[in-house]
Amino acid sequence: MVKLAAALLLPTLALAGHNDMFACRGRSCDVEELTEQNWASKLAEQPYFIMFYAPWCGHCKQLAPKLKGAAKKAKGLGFGIGAVDVEPNPSIQSMFPDIKGFPSLKYVNHPKGKKSIDYNGPREGDDVLQWTKDTFVRTGGALQAPIEHKAWSELYTFFGRAALDDLPVLFAVGADKEPPKWLAALHGDLKEKPKTTGENPEAETQRLLGEAKKATKLPEVREGIVGVLETLTAAEKARNNKRKALYSTTYSSDPDTITAFNASGAPKNGAHVFALSVDRKNLANSLVVAYGNNPVEADRRGKLVDSSALLAFARDAAANFPRDSAVALPDVPKPKSVLAAEERAAARKKRATAVHSIASKADLDANCYALPAAKTCVVGVGASEGDLTELAAKYSKEGYAFSTVASDAPVADALRGDVAAPALVVVKGGKRPRAARAELSGGAALLDSIAGGGASFAKFAGGLPAWPEAEPEEPAAAEEEGDEYDL
Ligand SMILES: *[C@@H]1O[C@H](CO)[C@@H](O)[C@H](O)[C@H]1NC(C)=O
Repeated sequence: MVKLAAALLLPTLALAGHNDMFACRGRSCDVEELTEQNWASKLAEQPYFIMFYAPWCGHCKQLAPKLKGAAKKAKGLGFGIGAVDVEPNPSIQSMFPDIKGFPSLKYVNHPKGKKSIDYNGPREGDDVLQWTKDTFVRTGGALQAPIEHKAWSELYTFFGRAALDDLPVLFAVGADKEPPKWLAALHGDLKEKPKTTGENPEAETQRLLGEAKKATKLPEVREGIVGVLETLTAAEKARNNKRKALYSTTYSSDPDTITAFNASGAPKNGAHVFALSVDRKNLANSLVVAYGNNPVEADRRGKLVDSSALLAFARDAAANFPRDSAVALPDVPKPKSVLAAEERAAARKKRATAVHSIASKADLDANCYALPAAKTCVVGVGASEGDLTELAAKYSKEGYAFSTVASDAPVADALRGDVAAPALVVVKGGKRPRAARAELSGGAALLDSIAGGGASFAKFAGGLPAWPEAEPEEPAAAEEEGDEYDL
């Protein structure tokens, strides 16, 4: 009985040490407790920043909550933050004979502790995290951002963003609420440079050139060969440097997404996987390629069943997007903000390309004589609005504002000068008012020649043609009286 109690008590106490030190909730700890039992498997999975400590060490207790904060932020990045209570784990201690005091802080990337790196920086969470990230990347790790879940309504923005960054998208659709863990791992693997065999298609050429260089006695030939060799080396270097992150990656489980991507029936932990080539200007021109083995399956513990084939598919799709087999991106809904911006742009364009009609002095001022300096007035004399819409759509963005005036309007003859109606008249106000004119049919040519600096403007002899002020309207009462007489 006593023996049993002791056996039960001991492991509980051992747990309490780590739990107390790192304020763990229940069995879940942000800072992972590494022991002789789990050391080999944990270190095989990922590298760790490790605090080697003793429960009585005051500096360790001070650092513990800071490490906990760092561990929370490090989640999913591809490395862990852990701690080893040294005394109960002598076989771990024996791997690090240089540990003389507590806490000892190290980056460990090997189950046997080989090539571990000491941390001597400030004992602050953010410093530890930054240093560990840097060390992780410096020693060949690929930082993994945890993959986020995106709702159907968020995909437009996500795809648009990826297009802006010029990244294809790896997209998984499944029924599980949380993105599968293997997706983040896959994304991380994609970011790593493929482990090529160093194969160089020009190797044989280089070898032959090298021999030729040795054999030749002519300095000009030798120089030529050296030049070619340098070019080949530079091309190889450029090829190796060009690899950047291959994919932007996301996951969705919305019923709408599942329907749009024909992705129903994914097993638990599994998903349908697609590679997307997103057209930046128009999402509708984007392309979707489904992975041939969809739906992708994972084992009971969420580990991908056939990761190498999926990785090969993703790499291949990114490198030479298979346009023949691709289908178009489903019509993902635009968010309200995008719709509103599009509406504003359309309204702006409509305003800018509108053709106004001039029927009074006020119209003439507003649409021609009193335009802002950046705009130039173009009047179609004796033309209809319809006559000018095409010109307006084409030339408005160059600063022309279009309007029409009837050929019997008070200013019509002065505006068109000796060009017969319908005429197009470009009016410039200011101190020396002048106009360039053409028949309406030659309007586009006139505007082009103004842009090219080849059009001639003629002065208005007596200033801008004036529209007489409107005569005061007759009092309304008089009309009503008249009506009564008529009755
Ligand atoms: C889903 O299926 C429809 C009908 O077969 C097809 O037109 C569409 O391209 C498919 N969508 C995707 C994303 O595969």
